[in-house]
Amino acid sequence: MNPSASAAAPTPQGVRLRPMTPRDLEMVSRLEPELFGAEAWSPATLAAELDRTTGPGADRAYLVAHLEDAGPIVGYAGLWYGDGRGDADLLTIATVPAARRRGVATALLTSLLSTAADVGCRAVLLEVRASNEGAQRLYAAHGFAPVGRRRRYYLAPVEDAVVMRRVLRQPAAS
Ligand SMILES: CC(C)(COP(=O)(O)OP(=O)(O)OC[C@H]1O[C@@H](n2cnc3c(N)ncnc32)[C@H](O)[C@@H]1OP(=O)(O)O)[C@@H](O)C(=O)NCCC(=O)NCCS
Repeated sequence: MNPSASAAAPTPQGVRLRPMTPRDLEMVSRLEPELFGAEAWSPATLAAELDRTTGPGADRAYLVAHLEDAGPIVGYAGLWYGDGRGDADLLTIATVPAARRRGVATALLTSLLSTAADVGCRAVLLEVRASNEGAQRLYAAHGFAPVGRRRRYYLAPVEDAVVMRRVLRQPAAS
């Protein structure tokens, strides 16, 4: 494993990370349209995602970033890691506009990269809108490299996805 995969970035001052819980769903559901427009996940989708973060069949992790002292949520992110034997997938990541460029997404991303590494995943994949240069810059700063393009992957509005991959560990020699 690449040791740097587990090195979490410092959380920005005044911000804390913790696992998302059902009590966060109302707030996250309200933020989704603001952050993702027509591609916002419904409350039902979010609840179904969260259901899969606990219990024997858990295969994903969701984090929220919030202001200290149980303050409001300023960002959140989710990772599918499956059974930990293949590539993980970054499912979502977002920071509220008022808290951007302070390292919130960096803290969420590095924490989820640590999770993926800890469960044994080889790499983390993600899809990002071709026009989303800010997010691509964030991912590149964390070792993600473009590995493909999915044509017309996004629908509202229609746009290609760039697929990026960050290697966490080299495959064992055979
Ligand atoms: C992309 C997003 C998650 C970044 O969140 P953030 O908390 O502002 O990110 P960070 O502060 O951790 O940024 C770290 C670095 O990423 C890059 N970056 C982030 N946003 C950027 C932007 N809009 N333009 C250029 N570079 C950007 C910069 O290199 C930045 O470092 P710097 O601020 O020192 O220059 C946020 O803009 C967002 O929620 N956008 C809407 C949802 C979205 O697009 N999610 C990604 C879906 S694939």
